[in-house]
Amino acid sequence: METIKPHGGRLVNRVLEGEPEEFQGLERIRLGHRAVLDAELIATGAYSPLEGFMTSDDYTKVVEEMFLASYIPWTLPITLPVRSEEASRLKEGDDIALVGSGGAEGSLAILHLEEKYTYDKEREAELVYKTSDPAHPGVRRLLQQGDILLGGRIDLVKRRVYSDYRGYRLDPSDTRRIFSDRGWKTVVGFQTRNPMHRAHEYITKCALEMVDGLFIHPLVGETKEDDIPAETRMKCYRALVDNYYPAERTVLGVFPAAMRYAGPREAVFHALVRKNYGCTHFTVGRDHAGVGDYYGTFDAQRIFYDFEPCEIGIVPLFFEHVFYCRGCGHMASLKTCPHSPDSRVFLSGTKVRELLSRGELLPPEFTRPEVARILVNANGAGAAGESKGPVEVKERA
Ligand code: ADX
Repeated sequence: METIKPHGGRLVNRVLEGEPEEFQGLERIRLGHRAVLDAELIATGAYSPLEGFMTSDDYTKVVEEMFLASYIPWTLPITLPVRSEEASRLKEGDDIALVGSGGAEGSLAILHLEEKYTYDKEREAELVYKTSDPAHPGVRRLLQQGDILLGGRIDLVKRRVYSDYRGYRLDPSDTRRIFSDRGWKTVVGFQTRNPMHRAHEYITKCALEMVDGLFIHPLVGETKEDDIPAETRMKCYRALVDNYYPAERTVLGVFPAAMRYAGPREAVFHALVRKNYGCTHFTVGRDHAGVGDYYGTFDAQRIFYDFEPCEIGIVPLFFEHVFYCRGCGHMASLKTCPHSPDSRVFLSGTKVRELLSRGELLPPEFTRPEVARILVNANGAGAAGESKGPVEVKERA
C-alpha cells in the first residue's frame, strides 16, 4: 500500500552501495556532530528533496522566503559551515572527503563541492530565529559557526552502526514499510524533545482517534544543556508506550537530528521531515520547538497558513494548551475546559526541574507514575546535562 509521497515526490537515497569509494588523495573536512547527523539524514531521505548541503540559491530563498529554489517549501537552512582558512584549500568542482569526529572518526561521505559562499549570519538569525539575541541557543550556535558555507550533493559511503537506541533507529524507508505492512492509510507523527507527560499523551491519543496509526518520534540529536538527556527520555517513552499505548497502533522510533529551537520555522521543518517518514498528519501544540519567550504560544501553528495545504502535503493537527483539570476530572484544554485556572494542574519546566532536584515525584495528574519514577531516579544520576549524542561502536564494513 503506497502511503503519502515524500516531500518533492521522491525519497532521496544518497547511500552508496558496495565497496566504499577511494578517499585517498581527497581534501578532508572533519565534521562536527550535527553535520554528521545531517549528512546521514540527507542520505537516507529524511530531508528529501535535499540531496546535499545547500548551495547559495537554495540557502538564500529558504532564509528569505521559506522555499527552495525549486519553489518547494523548506523553512530551515541545512548548511555545512567551515572556517575561512579551511575553505581556502578547497576547490569548487572537487570531491571532498567528509570524515566524522568525536568517537565517529573515519570516512563518512563524499561532498561534490559545487559552491563555497559567504552568508549573513545576522540576517539568518533575524529571519529564521526571529531574533539576533546570542542568548538564544540556535542563534548562539549560528554566530559561533564558520563563516563560509560549502554547498553540494553528498554520497554517504559508510553507514555507521550505532550501539544506542537499537531497534528504534528507523530510516524513512523502514517506517514507510512498517506503516504499509500494518495497512495504515493515515499515520500521525509526534515530535518531542521532552519526556512525555500527560499533555503529550493526550495530544497523541486525540490524534490517534482520527487516524490509523501513531508514530512517536522523539528527537535524540543535540539538545540544550538543561533539556533532559535523550537516554533518560527514551526510558520514559518506552515505559509509557508499554503501559499506555496499543502496540498494534503505535510505533516508537528516534529522530537523530539536532534541535534548532527555531519555533515556528522548525515546526514546519519537523512536519515536512515526518512526511518523508511516511506520516500523513503531524501534531503541533503550544510553543512547538520554542525556547524562552522568543515566540508567541501559537506562532508555530499560524506559520502553516503561510503555505497552501497542498504545498505542505502533511496535515497539521493543532492543539490548544492542554492540562489536567480537577473540575473536569480528566485531561482537557483551553478549548474544552470551562473551569477556572485554579482547578488546572500546570507545571512549568522550571517547576519540574525544582521538584526533581528535591528528589520528589512529579504528580500523577502531570506525569504517569512509571515516567515520574524514571525521572526522579535519573535525576540522582544527573538527569539535566548535555546530551552526549549517539554512541558509535563500529562502522559498517
Ligand atoms: S518540542 O520542542 O519538541 O516542540 P515538547 O517536547 O515540549 O517540545 O513538545 C512536543 C509537542 O507537544 C509539541 O508539538 C508541543 O507544541 C506540544 N505540547 C507540549 N506541551 C503541551 C501542552 N501542555 N499543551 C499543548 N501542547 C503541548
